[in-house]
Amino acid sequence: MQFTVAIDGPAAAGKGTISRAVAERFGFAHLDTGALYRAVGMKGGDPVEAARALSPEDLARDDLRTMEAGQAASKVAVIPEVRQALLDYQRDFARRAGGAVLDGRDIGTVICPDAEVKLFVTASAEVRAHRRWLEVGGEEAQVLAEVRARDERDMTRADAPLKPAADAVLIDTSGMSVEAAVAAACAEVLARLPG
Ligand code: CDP
Ligand code: CDP
Repeated sequence: MQFTVAIDGPAAAGKGTISRAVAERFGFAHLDTGALYRAVGMKGGDPVEAARALSPEDLARDDLRTMEAGQAASKVAVIPEVRQALLDYQRDFARRAGGAVLDGRDIGTVICPDAEVKLFVTASAEVRAHRRWLEVGGEEAQVLAEVRARDERDMTRADAPLKPAADAVLIDTSGMSVEAAVAAACAEVLARLPG
């Protein structure tokens, strides 16, 4: 069975948490596509070359979840040749047998426009920055500024900007527990699973 769940949204909206839970519940494979851009951003050198030569070792670096990696990712993510170099890997992953969940910014719009389920997960910038600050520490105002800067860059780039697909289901997790957000996402998958 081929079955793709596309989960997009801004930084710290809860995409990864929901994706991992959906993948576990339904036995689907999960790809965190942000990790690809983070790895390209942290590799240094020419980003297009870095994207073309991305290896499992690049994806295993332990600094990929830092704020620095998030900023570096969104800077290389504006380069069309970088996005192009990562496209086939993501599409192949999405159509693997047994089902797949991909989370990112352009999964429902560009990578998998025919995904069986499309979710756009969001929350207010303040709520999202607070969640990220709980993970990384430091100055909360600085985390909020970085989240805002990254959202702005992601939403205004010409190639594959962050925006909900026309047929995406919106989940605003601002006032939701993780459990409630996961339940809402699972309900959407269940409603569209064949059989
Ligand atoms: O992948 P993305 O950056 O969208 O967010 P995440 O890493 O899944 O979630 C960021 C943080 O928000 C995690 O620590 C979650 O536990 C927390 N959180 C959530 O994901 N969903 C909620 N409804 C409430 C909190
Ligand atoms: O977890 P969080 O939402 O903070 O970030 P991420 O999903 O790891 O993505 C890091 C950055 O990579 C984003 O801010 C985007 O600039 C870029 N990205 C993208 O352009 N397209 C994707 N499908 C995934 C990430």
